[in-house]
Amino acid sequence: MSFEKLKQEVTAILANDKAQVDERLSKVCELLKAEVDYFTWVGFYFKNGDKNELKLGPFAGEPTDHTIIPFGKGICGQVAVSNQNFVVPDVSAQDNYIACSIHVKAEIVVPLFKNGENIGQIDIDSNVPDPFTEEDERFLEFVNEKVAEIL
Ligand code: SME
Repeated sequence: MSFEKLKQEVTAILANDKAQVDERLSKVCELLKAEVDYFTWVGFYFKNGDKNELKLGPFAGEPTDHTIIPFGKGICGQVAVSNQNFVVPDVSAQDNYIACSIHVKAEIVVPLFKNGENIGQIDIDSNVPDPFTEEDERFLEFVNEKVAEIL
């Protein structure tokens, strides 16, 4: 499915206010994982209350031990403080990386802003080396903007 079509599907899922927010986010994760062949794991992390740590939210893919990630640790923790997209074409080249599965080759993390504040992120793992382009970044920014509207 093209990113244009996926944008429409994501918008429709998020607009369904009969479902709880987490249920809608979970559906978005399942959709992206199912429809983008190089997306192996798709999940949201959110700032855990007033703590300087991230907490795992809805996700699709194998369960991870890393349900809490301190700010600054791993790719996710770095994005929590940098406020910038982090595209990792080769995770083995990263020193500050938290491995969730030995099969993961690449990762992309895009911060999620609500009223200009970095409150979380979408995290995608890929078993394919170097699969992410600027198209993925723009698409994931769109997803996060839509998610922010219902938070
Ligand atoms: N690899 C991430 C940890 C989260 S898992 O990918 C689900 C990181 O380095 O922050």
